[in-house]
Amino acid sequence: VKDDRISRISSTIRVIPDFPKPGIMFQDITTMLLDPVAFKDTIDLFVERYKGKNISVVAGVEARGFIFGPPIALAIGAKFVPMRKPNKLPGAVISEEYSLEYGTDTMEMHVGAVQAGERALVIDDLIATGGTLAAAIKLLERVEANIVECACVIELADLKGRDRLGDKPLFVLISST
Ligand code: PRP
Repeated sequence: VKDDRISRISSTIRVIPDFPKPGIMFQDITTMLLDPVAFKDTIDLFVERYKGKNISVVAGVEARGFIFGPPIALAIGAKFVPMRKPNKLPGAVISEEYSLEYGTDTMEMHVGAVQAGERALVIDDLIATGGTLAAAIKLLERVEANIVECACVIELADLKGRDRLGDKPLFVLISST
C-alpha cells in the first residue's frame, strides 16, 4: 500500500540474521511494538481497510497474530479467535496439519468459535511460504466461514506464499524482497 505511515513502520522492524537458524533473516516486529506511533499506525491501517466491511471474526495466528489481531477486532467490532499450535486450546478443537521446510506442524481452532457464514479476516505478522495462512484458511473453510481477506504486516515476496492462498486475497503493508 502507499501511505506516509508505511516508511516509519518499516524503519521500526528489525532484521536479525541467522535466527532461528543459519540463513534465515528474521523480521522482528517486537521493535515496532516499542514505538507507539508505528504500532498504532499499523493497527489503524488495518482498521481503516476493514471497518464497515461486516467482518464478524478476526482470526489471529499464533504467536504474533495474537498481537495485531485483538486491537483490530475491537476497533471493527468483531470477535477474536486464536489459531493455535497443537495441544494449547483446552476445549474441543479442529486441527489442520501443514508442511514446513522440514516436517509438519499442526494448527488448531476451538469448535464453536466460528459459525457457518461468518465473515472472517485472518491476521498474522508475516507471510513466508504461505503454509501457515493456508492452514488457517482451511480451518475456517471447514466450519464454512467466508474468508474476506488475509492480512499481514510483512510479505516475503520472493517466497511466493500468496500463491498458496488460492483465491483468497492477501493484503500486506510491507512487501519485502
Ligand atoms: C512465523 C510467522 C508466521 C509464519 C509464516 O511464525 O509469524 O506465523 O512463520 O511462515 P509461512 O508463511 O512459511 O508459513 P513462526 O514459525 O516464527 O512461529 P511463532 O509465531 O509461533 O514464533
